[in-house]
Amino acid sequence: TYGVTIHSTGSYVPKNIVYNDELTQWMDTSDEWIKKRTGIEKRHLSKGEDTSDLCIEASQKAINKKKIDPNQIGLIIVATMTPDSQSPSVSSKVQAAINADNAVAFDISAACSGFVYGLSIAEKMLRHMDYPYALVIGGEVMSKTLDWTDRKTSVLFGDGAGAVILKREAGKESFIAEDLHTDGKKGQALVSGEQEVKNPMCKVDSKDGFLTMDGRAIFNFVTKSIPKSIKHVLRAETMDSEKVDYFLLHQANARIIEIVSKKLTIPLNKFPMNIAHYGNTSAASLPLLLDESIENGTIKLNSGQHIVLSAFGGGLTWGTLLIKV
Ligand code: ACO
Repeated sequence: TYGVTIHSTGSYVPKNIVYNDELTQWMDTSDEWIKKRTGIEKRHLSKGEDTSDLCIEASQKAINKKKIDPNQIGLIIVATMTPDSQSPSVSSKVQAAINADNAVAFDISAACSGFVYGLSIAEKMLRHMDYPYALVIGGEVMSKTLDWTDRKTSVLFGDGAGAVILKREAGKESFIAEDLHTDGKKGQALVSGEQEVKNPMCKVDSKDGFLTMDGRAIFNFVTKSIPKSIKHVLRAETMDSEKVDYFLLHQANARIIEIVSKKLTIPLNKFPMNIAHYGNTSAASLPLLLDESIENGTIKLNSGQHIVLSAFGGGLTWGTLLIKV
């Protein structure tokens, strides 16, 4: 029987780096506040590249690393809350750019949890497809949805993309357990890209579409629900947390990760972090961190390491995957 494995990864961020101090040009904030409250030191912000541009670069890197024939890719999923347009999808643009002519391509919208949701969908679909590879990408240009005078949101986010290629293989399996959730009743805690119904029947004022967030509410929610979700996947496999090599959490706030580590009594050095360099890149955060951890040798593909991937964000959505690499 066929299993599905993590085969290759790639990531890309815009070259332009913006340090905390530079943000004081546009709003009343400080390097000290941002570092202390979030762990963020700098972020990469697009100077014009859109989400598809970042996703294409990240995908190309993942393809080149293992010299994959694009014609063997049967599925492309892009997780994003900042698509270039509603049509064509970002994934359609990626499909065209990488010449993956046999691939079915679509985007999913689950904010910062999008990459975890996307992996979950892709591994299930790939088992039943004619081609051996699926490409799952998390990509965002968060900077285009932010109000750059609002210090409560704009200091937190960054732009980037990460890509993972899954492979259908006989006798191997990466996907062990999952726990996915949505609580739509709390959806107003994070709103972005709102559009009004505007037609000759009803004329309304335009909305600016900027991202708004009740940060405190999400913080409290996440520090309760994520430890529970991680415990759930481990319990499902009667797996001791000591047997997990690394816990990759969505990079939204270093303090959230510290609290989760404490609540689970798992040492913080098992939680790789790169939020200092990228800020919160939403759906791109986990694939960026995964690719970085593989590139620096922390995570080794084909080693049998157990990894927990856990994400949370708008929707509200959250979810955890237990994988073996
Ligand atoms: N610079 C200086 N001061 C600031 C800034 C800033 N950038 N931002 C807020 N402050 C001030 C506030 O005005 C407030 O001042 P006041 O007490 O005088 O009113 C004070 O700092 C404290 O503000 P809080 O919002 O209570 O700060 P908190 O410690 O909660 O940190 C943060 C805010 C960083 C947003 C935190 O709540 C958080 O990380 N929340 C979770 C976010 C998250 O995970 N979102 C989901 C993922 S995102 C997605 O799905 C796209």
